[in-house]
Amino acid sequence: MGRPRHRRRLRFLLWAGVPSLILGAVILTVALHDAPGAKSRRVASSDPVAAFLAHYWVYPLQPEGKPPADYSSLTASLAPSACGRCHTRQYREWRSSLHHTAMGPGMLWQFYLYGQRGANSCMRCHAPLAEQKALIAREFHWPNVPAGAPPSYIPPDLAHQGLVCAVCHVRAQRRYGPPPSPGQPAGDTPGLPHGGFTVSAAFRDSRFCASCHQFPADGPALDGVPFENTYQEWRRSRFAREGISCQDCHMPAGRHLWRGIHDPAMVRKAITVSLHVSRRGSRLVHVEAEIVNSGAGHDFPTYLVPRVTARLDLVTPAGKVVRQLASRTIGRRVNLELTRQFSDTRIPPGGRLTFGADLPAPRGPGWRVRLRLAVAPEEWYVHMYEHYLAESGRLPPAALPLLRQAVAQGHAERFVVNMATVSLPPLGVPAARVAN
Ligand code: HEC
Ligand code: HEC
Ligand code: HEC
Ligand code: HEC
Ligand code: HEC
Repeated sequence: MGRPRHRRRLRFLLWAGVPSLILGAVILTVALHDAPGAKSRRVASSDPVAAFLAHYWVYPLQPEGKPPADYSSLTASLAPSACGRCHTRQYREWRSSLHHTAMGPGMLWQFYLYGQRGANSCMRCHAPLAEQKALIAREFHWPNVPAGAPPSYIPPDLAHQGLVCAVCHVRAQRRYGPPPSPGQPAGDTPGLPHGGFTVSAAFRDSRFCASCHQFPADGPALDGVPFENTYQEWRRSRFAREGISCQDCHMPAGRHLWRGIHDPAMVRKAITVSLHVSRRGSRLVHVEAEIVNSGAGHDFPTYLVPRVTARLDLVTPAGKVVRQLASRTIGRRVNLELTRQFSDTRIPPGGRLTFGADLPAPRGPGWRVRLRLAVAPEEWYVHMYEHYLAESGRLPPAALPLLRQAVAQGHAERFVVNMATVSLPPLGVPAARVAN
């Protein structure tokens, strides 16, 4: 594997530009460089999905080429808004998704450090079309940009729109999609716009998503666990055995929302909690919280970036939090360089976390204990960004506004969900059990 060689090269590249800033982001680039899919895979011909995917996700993706002459200018366009003129629901939903914002400020400020090769390795998952890479190269004045303005079917903002429709649906100007639902026309129905479409069952298969959401077994890992291991976690879960795919949970009824850890409703769906109160002697009560990963088809959370903190708070009869009784971190804690893992307390599918606290029984009624989850979906990145911000004098000036925006965004994405509350029995009254 080329990992040590890449590391030396990129460190040198950074030293040449911004001395001493050789932390997390650099090594992340190096690590992600060796992501899956780049190598061609040998595939059993008896598995049509694997055979399809082995040709569909071959990196780098090739330019789409000139649209066929019989495409109208609307159907020829790779702009999501053009697809959205006919596929209005998918477009509306996709616009609110993180796939659409995959080229946000958190991504772009780093391109000022990496140069073209490093940036292309990131765009492999964040904006992989050849046309998107060419547009970014133009914007950053990198070499190997095609001469002249892009043709009209390539909108100038295509790269900034992240994972556009064409990333998943268009190869060599041909449209690909899942088997049509009942009542929808077949792909080869004459007269369809964009010359119809090619059908593949791969669109309903978890392996379709693994191309970006899973690192290979020999890829970058800590304590033997790849940085991105979502597909393997899913494979080992009961959901894989029951045939429940990534799409079933993240694209129900074909919805293009892909909600995840950034969404409070999805976090609630992921877990089942219960609070149990018991007596400890005559004057103490014990509160025990149980958190079960009942609804995420992988570890909760799956990625090493989010930080979830479960907290037991003491609440007065007037509803005020007066004290934190106990807390537990749920997630992978790793250093900025991604070379050390301090702990991995993620909850696997079906797994549980229990923790509790003793406290004096209250003197009167109305006192409660509440279980809350504080979710910081981009915590590792926020720490990394803040580290760079502290050395901002060494950064290229153009990167700074983007970096500041990324930090602000990372903070704004944090949220708290109330999961359950249990009343505390006053002195002399028996205890109760509460579940959400
Ligand atoms: C002029 C209208 C129009 C435009 C523009 C258009 N499409 Fe379509 N597309 C259709 C129609 C009509 C069908 C067939 C009916 C259906 O499945 O919705 C179709 C089918 C599809 C399918 C197959 C759906 C399935 O059931 O598998 C996909 C995928 C698709 N289009 C993607 C795109 C993408 C991506 C773009 C933009 C790059 C685009 N289309 C632009 C009209 C359009
Ligand atoms: C071409 C690469 C690529 C493919 C294919 C892909 N994703 Fe993603 N996905 C990403 C990237 C990159 C992000 C992060 C975007 C961001 O936050 O900037 C993401 C984000 C997500 C999120 C949001 C997570 C959160 O933090 O809340 C979910 C859920 C998700 N993807 C599910 C899927 C599913 C399901 C599929 C398969 C149908 C899929 N993805 C296919 C690259 C991809
Ligand atoms: C193998 C695919 C892959 C590669 C390569 C990749 N990423 Fe990501 N990236 C993801 C996925 C998937 C997510 C979303 C994970 C989640 O939300 O749980 C993500 C999320 C992010 C986020 C947080 C969301 C946001 O947009 O602010 C940043 C920042 C990011 N990646 C930067 C990078 C950088 C910089 C590189 C190159 C050094 C890179 N990524 C390379 C798959 C990839
Ligand atoms: C990250 C990959 C990804 C992106 C980006 C994406 N799609 Fe899809 N799309 C899928 C998958 C996977 C399915 C199949 C979902 C299923 O049936 O479970 C699908 C299904 C469809 C279908 C068939 C009907 C349906 O809704 O199931 C159409 C039409 C479509 N997409 C259009 C679009 C358009 C238009 C865009 C951009 C606005 C877009 N897609 C962006 C992955 C993607
Ligand atoms: C049984 C439903 C279910 C299945 C199956 C499922 N997910 Fe999730 N996923 C969730 C829920 C609920 C969350 C929110 C809680 C969380 O982050 O774990 C989530 C969160 C995520 C996130 C957010 C990032 C993070 O760190 O947690 C990503 C990315 C993701 N899923 C991708 C996938 C991919 C890829 C697959 C298929 C290999 C998949 N999911 C299968 C339910 C599911």
